[in-house]
Amino acid sequence: MTKIDGKQLAADIKEEIAEEVKAIRAAGGKIPHLAAVLVGEDPASQVYVRNKVRDCERVGFNSTLIKKEADTSEEELLAIVNLLNVDDDIDGFIVQLPLPKHINEEKITLAIDPKKDVDGFHPVNFGRMAQGLPCYWPATPFGIMQMLDRYNIETSGKRCVILGRSNIVGTPISILLSRKAKVGNCTVTLTHSRTQNIEEEVKRADIIIAAIGIPNYVTANMVSEGAVVIDVGINRVEDATRKRGYRLVGDVDYENVAPKCSYITPVPGGVGPMTITSLLMNTLKSCKGEVY
Ligand code: GUN
Repeated sequence: MTKIDGKQLAADIKEEIAEEVKAIRAAGGKIPHLAAVLVGEDPASQVYVRNKVRDCERVGFNSTLIKKEADTSEEELLAIVNLLNVDDDIDGFIVQLPLPKHINEEKITLAIDPKKDVDGFHPVNFGRMAQGLPCYWPATPFGIMQMLDRYNIETSGKRCVILGRSNIVGTPISILLSRKAKVGNCTVTLTHSRTQNIEEEVKRADIIIAAIGIPNYVTANMVSEGAVVIDVGINRVEDATRKRGYRLVGDVDYENVAPKCSYITPVPGGVGPMTITSLLMNTLKSCKGEVY
C-alpha cells in the first residue's frame, strides 16, 4: 500500500511554480497576480482565503485580497467583479463561497469573465472542460488528476466509481477520467443518493473517488484488494481528546480500508493540500496566456 502524500506533492508543485516565477521575474515578464474576494466573516472561508493569499506570496505571485462586510449588496459585489474583469494586471480571481444569503451565487459566478475564472466554476469553463478545450479545471478535480499523474497510476481501461455528483467534484471528475487522455480512459460510474446497491458498485471499482461528505462511509467490505482510493471528504467529528474538540476524517474508513489498497489518500494531507496548488497553476497558465 502506498500512501499518496498530498502535502508533499503540493509542496513540490509550489516549488516548481516558484522556480518558474523566478525565471519570469528575471526575464522582466508579467508576474502572475491572483485576487480573492471575501464577503462576510465565515470562519472557514477566512482561513481558506488567508491560505490562498499566503501561498501566492510564497510562490512569488502578486495577490490582492478584497474584504467586504457581510451586508455588502449584490450590486456592490457585481461592481467589484466587473472591475476585476477589466483590470489588466489581474490574471485571475475568485469570489470565495459561500456568499451571504442575500447574494445570488449563480449570478456572481456568471458575472466573472471566464478568462479570469481560475476556480473553473463558470459554465463556459465547465463546458470547455467537457469538450476537451483549453480551460480552467476546478481545483479539486485538477488536484486529483495531478495526483494520479504524478504517482503514475494507470487509469486506462480501469473501472472508476465516483461517490457524489456535485458540480465541483463528482460530476467534473467523472468527465475528466472518461476523457481520451493519459490520465483518463476510465470506465466511469457516477453514484449518488438514488443509486441502488452502492456497495456492489464500489466493490467492482479499480479506482474509488469518495466525495459525499459522510464520515467513514466507505468501509473495508466495499473495497476490492488492490483498489486505488481517493478520499475527498473533509468531515469534522467530535473528539474530546483534541484541544479544538473535533478532528477531521474523510469519507473513507482509512484505518481498515488502507491495508487493502494499492494507493490511498489520507485525510488530512491528501486531496486537500492539492486544491490551492490547482488555483496557483490556473493563475500561472492565465498569466502565460496558455488557456484563452
Ligand atoms: N469555497 C470552498 N471551496 C471553494 C473554492 O474552491 N473556491 C471558492 N471560490 N469558494 C470555495
